[in-house]
Amino acid sequence: MRIDVISIFPDYFAPLSLSLVGKAIARGVVELGIHDLRRWTHDRHHTTDDTPYGGGAGMVMKPEPWGEALDAVEALSPSRPTIVIPTPAGEPFTQARAYELAARDHLVFACGRYEGIDQRVIDHCHDTYDTFEVSLGDYVLNGGEVAVLAITEAVVRLIPGVIGNPESLFEESHSDDNDRLLEYPNYTKPPVWRGRAVPEMLLSGNHGAIAQWRRERALERTRERRPDLLAERPPS
Ligand SMILES: C[S@@+](CC[C@H](N)C(=O)[O-])C[C@H]1O[C@@H](n2cnc3c(N)ncnc32)[C@H](O)[C@@H]1O
Repeated sequence: MRIDVISIFPDYFAPLSLSLVGKAIARGVVELGIHDLRRWTHDRHHTTDDTPYGGGAGMVMKPEPWGEALDAVEALSPSRPTIVIPTPAGEPFTQARAYELAARDHLVFACGRYEGIDQRVIDHCHDTYDTFEVSLGDYVLNGGEVAVLAITEAVVRLIPGVIGNPESLFEESHSDDNDRLLEYPNYTKPPVWRGRAVPEMLLSGNHGAIAQWRRERALERTRERRPDLLAERPPS
């Protein structure tokens, strides 16, 4: 997979060289390009924002640098890119969407700042490419960079071969294999820590009973913490 990120703060993406994403890049599973939007400005001050039409507070990202940037990164891969635009006005980003994006050949992330990107750029993306406007949650960040770090990590770990043991993806929270439930609680050694014992069942060696126990805990947790997830499941 090829990933291109366009931002006025390219330094934000240094952490992508660490951990599993960093290893995926080092092994060539993911090819990553980080691009400074200012490269596609043509004035002395490398201006990327201007005052909003209609008045009001804040600045809006100008369309011209974005248009040139998108044209340039599109040419970096033979496949038509999928554009991901983080915005608090987007659809909530989910594990299902992460799986969908992990199957694409070329992702381009467009990081907004200020009051966001001129709407005509977003409309152009929808008309020209497969485009997703996604929100990390019902709160407002200063820019799209943090959202892109989170989305990239969620997507790249789902690419086959990135996680050493693919079985660890099976029972994860929000995954289809786990019926989109929250995961059961996990424990490791020692068997007793500060007076708190590991649940007896997990020491029983009875794998069928342990699987059943974990399923019950997953349902219990989901019912308590995220009843909305249960409501979304089919009646079975
Ligand atoms: C200050 S925000 C703009 C908020 C915008 N004026 C609004 O009220 O919807 C600047 C940028 O941060 C990013 N951003 C902020 N909150 C986000 C969220 N919850 N999810 C994804 N991206 C977000 C987007 O890229 C956005 O263009």
